[in-house]
Amino acid sequence: MPDMISLTIDGHEITVPEGTTILKAAEANDIHIPTICFHDYCTANALCRICVVEVEGARTLTPACVGQVSQGMKVHTTSERIVRARRTILEMLQASVDLSDAPEILQMAVDYQANGQRFSGSIRRETEVKDDNPMYIRDYAKCILCWRCVQVCATDAQYTYAINFSGRGYETQISTFFDVPIPLSTCVFCGQCVGVCPTGALKPKRQWLLELGRSPNEIMSLTRTERQSRRRANANP
Ligand code: SF4
Ligand code: FES
Repeated sequence: MPDMISLTIDGHEITVPEGTTILKAAEANDIHIPTICFHDYCTANALCRICVVEVEGARTLTPACVGQVSQGMKVHTTSERIVRARRTILEMLQASVDLSDAPEILQMAVDYQANGQRFSGSIRRETEVKDDNPMYIRDYAKCILCWRCVQVCATDAQYTYAINFSGRGYETQISTFFDVPIPLSTCVFCGQCVGVCPTGALKPKRQWLLELGRSPNEIMSLTRTERQSRRRANANP
């Protein structure tokens, strides 16, 4: 049985088991902390920092999705400093990534009164849509590098290791090893990466074609033909 920890979040006295994150302690007490990169079934890596909170006595803001509770801790989730930090993160995302398929992030931008023009001189993430297989497309102009897809492809779920980070700094992006097309990678088309992507950067191919205005018959015939040729290629390597 774990030890119990008492703390306050926004003035509420809370008791949770040792090892609980600030995010989960808040959630269990109906206190909302926004998240972007966090997913209940993925390992938290604190990449986006939208969940930052203020812990009394700490010099820097703490990401609630990984920060653990401690005895007597006093946490604030909505101070001016926090709001400013979250707003800035959203403004930087707006400036560099296509968020048109990320309604939850767009709503956060409204809630935090983010000014989408604040960093208008930034370089935007602009890449061609990668359409190289019959199951899903990759539109990395919409990728916020949350790492969820990499994690479910690896030790969080599938143990396939088809995708990972590539490049450094601004050039960082998600890719297959050696940037090979998906059918030449170790991808088994489980779809888990598509399922956890929060921004539409990974999307089922049929949904994408539908959004492009292709008719259902056309889409079925196109993707079925692609799947058949792939099956034939696998049967006669
Ligand atoms: S492709 Fe989607 S899931 Fe993968 S890192 Fe980018 S935004 Fe996250
Ligand atoms: S949700 Fe905590 S850092 Fe992204």
